[in-house]
Formats: sequence, C-alpha cells, structure tokens
Amino acid sequence: MKVNQFKPWVGEEEYKEIEGCFTENWITEGPKSKEFVKQLLDLTGAKYGVLAPNGTLAIYLALRAIDLKPGDQVLVPDFTFLGSASAVEMAGGVPVFIDVNKENFQLDLDSAEKFINPKTKAIMPVHIYGTMAKMDEVMEFAKKHNLSVVEDAAQAIGVHYKDKHAGTYGDVSIFSFFADKTITTAEGGLVVTNDKKKYEKLLYLRNQGRIERGSFIHPEIGYNFRMTDLQAAVGLVQLGKLDQIIERKNKIKDYYFNRLSKIKEINFFKPFDGADWIPFRVGILVEEAEKLMKYMSENEVEVRTFFYPLHKQPCFKYLKDIIPETLDSKNYPNSIYGYEYGICLPSFPTLSEEELDYVCTVIEKYYE
Ligand SMILES: Cc1ncc(COP(=O)(O)O)c(C=O)c1O
Repeated sequence: MKVNQFKPWVGEEEYKEIEGCFTENWITEGPKSKEFVKQLLDLTGAKYGVLAPNGTLAIYLALRAIDLKPGDQVLVPDFTFLGSASAVEMAGGVPVFIDVNKENFQLDLDSAEKFINPKTKAIMPVHIYGTMAKMDEVMEFAKKHNLSVVEDAAQAIGVHYKDKHAGTYGDVSIFSFFADKTITTAEGGLVVTNDKKKYEKLLYLRNQGRIERGSFIHPEIGYNFRMTDLQAAVGLVQLGKLDQIIERKNKIKDYYFNRLSKIKEINFFKPFDGADWIPFRVGILVEEAEKLMKYMSENEVEVRTFFYPLHKQPCFKYLKDIIPETLDSKNYPNSIYGYEYGICLPSFPTLSEEELDYVCTVIEKYYE
C-alpha cells in the first residue's frame, strides 16, 4: 500500500460550481468571489476582507497595510513556512527570527523580547499546524512595545483561541487556501482587518490603485492581487464541507493518538488549553526521526519533516550584515528541536481507515 502525505478533497461538487462560471460567463473576480468573501467574514467574524492570489502575497499586502517602511523589522517565528518571512523581505522589511515553544511550536514571547529594538515595527504570530498562539499574551506584548500585529493564520481557518477566530486579534491577518490547507481554492489567500482605513488601503493595493474596476484613473499606486471566480467557486464548495473536514481530521488525529500513544518513544504535538485544533498535520516527535522516516518511506508511507529553521535557510544569509544575532543557532533551541524530532503523518480528510491502520502498523513494526 502507498500512502500519500496529502491529497486535496475536491471532486464532482467543485467541478459543477466551476461550470457555473462558464454558463454564467463570469470567470474573473465577480459574484462568486464576493459571496466567498462574505461567507469567510461570517465564519471568522472579521469586519473586512479581500482575496489575494495566495497566502504569501496576502502577507505582503497585510504588511503594506500596516505601513511597513524600508528597514522596519518584523518579528517572525523561526519555525514556519518560508513565505511568512519572504513576504517581509518583499515588503522592504527585515525578518527577525524568534524562537517557539517546545510543545506546539507557537511563537515564544521571551525570545521575542530579546530582539526588540527601535526598528521593531511588528510581530507576526504564526498559528502553526492548525492550532493557535496565545493571542491575549501576544496582544499585551505588542501593546507594551508599540508593535503592529500581523497574524499569519495560513493554516488556521476555522480555529479559535478563547472563542475568537484566528486572524481577528491582530491589526491585519491572513489565510491561505493552497491545496494542502483546511479548505482550498488550489492557490488563494484572504486578508482580513477590522480597521476601515487599512481595508481601503488593501483595496487600492490589490486592484491597481483604484476602488472600481473599469476606470483608468488610479488615485494610488497599486497592483494586481486579485483571484478569480473559478477559484472562488471551489472555495465556496470547500466552505460548505468545512464541518465534515474538521470532523474527519479530528477522527484521524484521535486514531493516531489512540494507537501510537502506546509507544513510549513517541511524543505528540499538544495545543494550548483554550485553543481549538483542526490538525493541519498530525505531528509526532521522536528521537530517531530521520531513521523512522526512512523506514516509513521504504514502506511507501510519504512523510514530511517539520519546518526547517528559518535562521538556517541559505536565502537569509544576507541578514548577517543587518542583524547577525538572528542567524545564531543558540537563540533557537526549540525550533531546531522541532526540525530534528518532528514528523508530519498523513492526515488528509480522504485518508481511508485501511491507510490509517497501515501507517500505524508500519510505525509499530519499527518500534517492535
Ligand atoms: C504558515 C504559512 N504561512 C504562509 C504560507 C504561504 O501560503 P501560500 O502557499 O498560499 O503562499 C503557508 C503555506 O504553506 C504557511 O503554511
């Protein structure tokens, strides 16, 4: 048996909804995009939202909306996908890495404190692996240091901390709808804010510096960060399936917990009290991660490591001339631990009972 790391759950229903774009002859951003944004705002409770081509560009837009200036520093967890930090560079800022905690790899504010300086403009909590950072503490920290907050909730649609949806604590926040996210539009993103001025700025930035399409007068500098109704059609169907996706992902997580917690060498990723968890991936932490992953691959189970620490990424070597301490491994023990010990198990909604049983059997055999 071969088990993939991830498969998006798309099919006949999404196909039918896309067909509507052709029968109604509207393929660019239009009625379906408008409805998709409306439903996303209903779900999250955010006041304003705009679509973006993907999560990375959504972060870029969010950073522009908080008026990031060249050279401004943004505190970004060392343990996240590259896009969280490359978008900071794209917006003219400097990503400064902070460590994460060892239980669930959300940002660590004690580490953040060490990097505060007069150039620090913003902090970016990244809600990693489908659960959330302690946003009440992040907001307090941001207030103390006069920082803007940009939540990277790429992996956290549907997730709450203390009854507030991810992305509704910060000044501007983003979600991604890439194929492996909880809901997908193939590629896609959303930027949300509760601030009308920032929303207006986002509208100009994403639509060629104007609010209305069809006009050739552009009051502001802006670009094209639109999505299409073809993608929004997929998103609408996916949103309709969200409850089923959450239920299935949680069943998968419980299955792994029940079977694998009997193996004393395995530790699990654990969310904070008060935070939901819609497992973006089910993560386990083991001492011999590399060996176990090799064994699983040989048995045709596709596994992934956890994120590679950003401070070690070759592309960020240039930071040595700007803020050398952000490349010093001494500052990131937990992020390094995550990479060295973490394994992402297959955990997508259409994973069958037989596949789940097979993945667990392979792991059990390794430890026998
Ligand atoms: C935490 C995080 N931030 C940002 C992104 C970037 O999103 P996208 O792939 O839609 O550009 C991702 C995508 O995997 C992510 O996981």
